[in-house]
Amino acid sequence: MFNFNYFTPTKVVFGKETELQVADLIREFGGTKVLIHYGGGSVIRSGLLKKVTDILDGAGIAYVTLGGAVPNPHLGLVYEGIDLCKKEGVDFLLAVGGGSAIDSAKAIGYGVTNEGDVWDFYDYKREATACLPLGVILTLAATGSEMSDSSVITKEEGLVKRGYSSDYCRPKFAIMNPELTMTLPDYQTACGCTDIMMHTMERYFTNGGNMEITDALAEGLLRTVMVNAEILKKDPKNYDARAEVMWAGSLAHNGLTGCGNDGGDWMTHKLEHELGGLYDVAHGAGLAAIWGSWARYVMKDCLPRFKRFAVNVMGVAPEGTDEKIALKGIEAMEAFYRRIDMPTNLRELGVNATDEDLALMAHKCAVGVDGAMGSAKLLYEKDMLAIFKASV
Ligand code: NZQ
Ligand code: ZN
Repeated sequence: MFNFNYFTPTKVVFGKETELQVADLIREFGGTKVLIHYGGGSVIRSGLLKKVTDILDGAGIAYVTLGGAVPNPHLGLVYEGIDLCKKEGVDFLLAVGGGSAIDSAKAIGYGVTNEGDVWDFYDYKREATACLPLGVILTLAATGSEMSDSSVITKEEGLVKRGYSSDYCRPKFAIMNPELTMTLPDYQTACGCTDIMMHTMERYFTNGGNMEITDALAEGLLRTVMVNAEILKKDPKNYDARAEVMWAGSLAHNGLTGCGNDGGDWMTHKLEHELGGLYDVAHGAGLAAIWGSWARYVMKDCLPRFKRFAVNVMGVAPEGTDEKIALKGIEAMEAFYRRIDMPTNLRELGVNATDEDLALMAHKCAVGVDGAMGSAKLLYEKDMLAIFKASV
C-alpha cells in the first residue's frame, strides 16, 4: 500500500432544486462579480441559465456571461474568458454545464490569476500558483470535474488535447440536481456512464499496492453504474438512477477510488485524448472504443487485477485458467458497452483512421506522456501504436 493524500474541499449540494441555492453559495465563498460560463446552448434551451441569472439578479449579485465551450473545449475561448474576466473585474467563476464548461472555466481561472500564457500549464512548461474560485452547477454526470483537480483543454493549432491538474482548481461548491441531467440525449448519458467507470478502472488496473477498502469501493461503484446505466437506457427520467450515476461520477474521480494505489494507469485516457483532439469524438465513446484493445494488450502484465475485475465486477465464474477468466471479463465489459450503444472499436466510433493518423496519434501521445506511461503495463510509442492498430 502506498501513502496517499485525500483532499476533497468541494462542498457538495445534492438533490432536487438545489440550484436555487446558487446565490447563497456564491456569497458563502466570497464571490461578488461572477462569470457564468456555459456550453453550446443546452442550458439556454432547458431554461437553467435564465433560472440562474434570475436568482443572481434577485440576490443583487453582479455577473457577466460567456457561452460557447464546446465538447473538447478550445483554448481560444479560454483566452476570451480571461480577457473578459480581467476587463469586468470578475472574482468568481460559475460553470453551468458538463465537463467541458467546467474545464474551460478552470482554465480561465488559471489565466486570470497567473501571469503569462495559460497554455504553458497544459504544455507542462510551468506550474500554476493560483486559480479563481469556481462553483459548478452540473448538468452531465461524466467527468467528475465538479470535484476533480483536473482540466482538459484542446489547443486548436495542431489539435493538441492536454490535461493539467492542481488542487487550486478544485471547485468550491458543486450543485448536483440529478433532474438537470434528464434532458441529456441517451448517447451522452451512456458516454457519461462509460467515463465514470473508466475513472475508477484507470485506478483499479495497476501493479502498485492496493487496499481492500479501495477495491471494494471501486467494485461497488462499477457495479452500481452498470446497473443504473441500463435502467437509464430504458427509463431516462428515472430520478434514483440519475442520482446514483451522478454521485458515482463525483466519487469516481475525486480520488476516493485510488487511495493507497500507485496513482493508476491512465493510458486509456491518454490514448482517448488523442482521438478527442484529432476527431473531436465524445470522450466517453472514445474511451469505450479503445479500452478493449488496451485491456487485451496489457492483460498478461496485470493478470491478478483483470481476474479479480472479471469475477467481482463482471460476475464471471472463477473457473478455468486465470487468463481465460480475465479475458471473459474483458468480453463481458464490451458486451455491456454494446448494450448501452457504446462503440468497442474505432469503426463503431465512426472514425476511419489511416495508418498515418494512427502513427501521428501514437507519436503525440508518447510526447504527451514524456515517453512512456502506464501501471498495468508501461507503454511506449510502439505499444501505443499497436493498441491503436488493434482498435481499428
Ligand atoms: O454544450 P451544451 O449545449 O451544453 O451541450 C452539451 C454537449 O453537447 C450536452 N449537454 C450537457 N448537459 C446537458 C446536455 N444536453 C442536454 N441536457 C443536458 N443536461 O452534452 C454534450 C457534452 O457535454 P460535455 O461537457 O462536452 O461532456 P462531458 O461532461 O463528458 O465533458 C467532456 C470533456 O471533459 C474532459 C473530456 O476530455 C472532454 O474534453 N474530461 C475532463 C476531466 C476532468 N476535468 O476531470 C476528466 C475526464 O477524464 C475528461 O478527460
Ligand atoms: Zn474521463
